[in-house]
Amino acid sequence: MQTTQPQNSPPLYDIVILGASGFTGKYVVKEALKFLKTPSSPLKTLAIAGRSREKLLKTLEWAAHPSSPPPHISIITADTTDPPSLESLCRQAKVLLNCVGPFRIHGEPVVAACANSGILEC
Ligand SMILES: NC(=O)c1ccc[n+]([C@@H]2O[C@H](COP(=O)([O-])OP(=O)(O)OC[C@H]3O[C@@H](n4cnc5c(N)ncnc54)[C@H](OP(=O)(O)O)[C@@H]3O)[C@@H](O)[C@H]2O)c1
Repeated sequence: MQTTQPQNSPPLYDIVILGASGFTGKYVVKEALKFLKTPSSPLKTLAIAGRSREKLLKTLEWAAHPSSPPPHISIITADTTDPPSLESLCRQAKVLLNCVGPFRIHGEPVVAACANSGILEC
């Protein structure tokens, strides 16, 4: 499901992990979930993003194991070849953890969307 965020609304998520379904992304999700369930952690809201909702759901199940069902984490569809989807994504995030790859192919549009939105990309 593509969530839409009005232009001037504050971001919904402290962190959005883009490319969460990849080799690197799934380990980033696993680590983020640990912080999410730690009350003293500044990470309070998290979403995962990518081009396949089905793959992202599987990633979430894998990362949350052995917790079942996995925690309710928002899933946002976005594709690096679709700039409006990246702009929408950036409006929802304070920080974007970019795990898409290969970076030399998919990195630049993500960096551009973050720069245009004024959010931090790591
Ligand atoms: N693997 C490592 O050990 C390692 C270590 C350090 C850094 N890195 C870096 O981490 C990045 C990812 O590497 P990886 O090994 O994790 O690659 P990977 O397993 O191939 O994962 C690539 C990710 O990018 C997503 N993606 C590809 N094209 C996309 C598009 N057009 N729009 C949105 N998402 C797209 C893939 O989504 P789908 O699942 O839908 O295909 C997948 O989630 C690279 O920049 C790499 O250099 C990797």
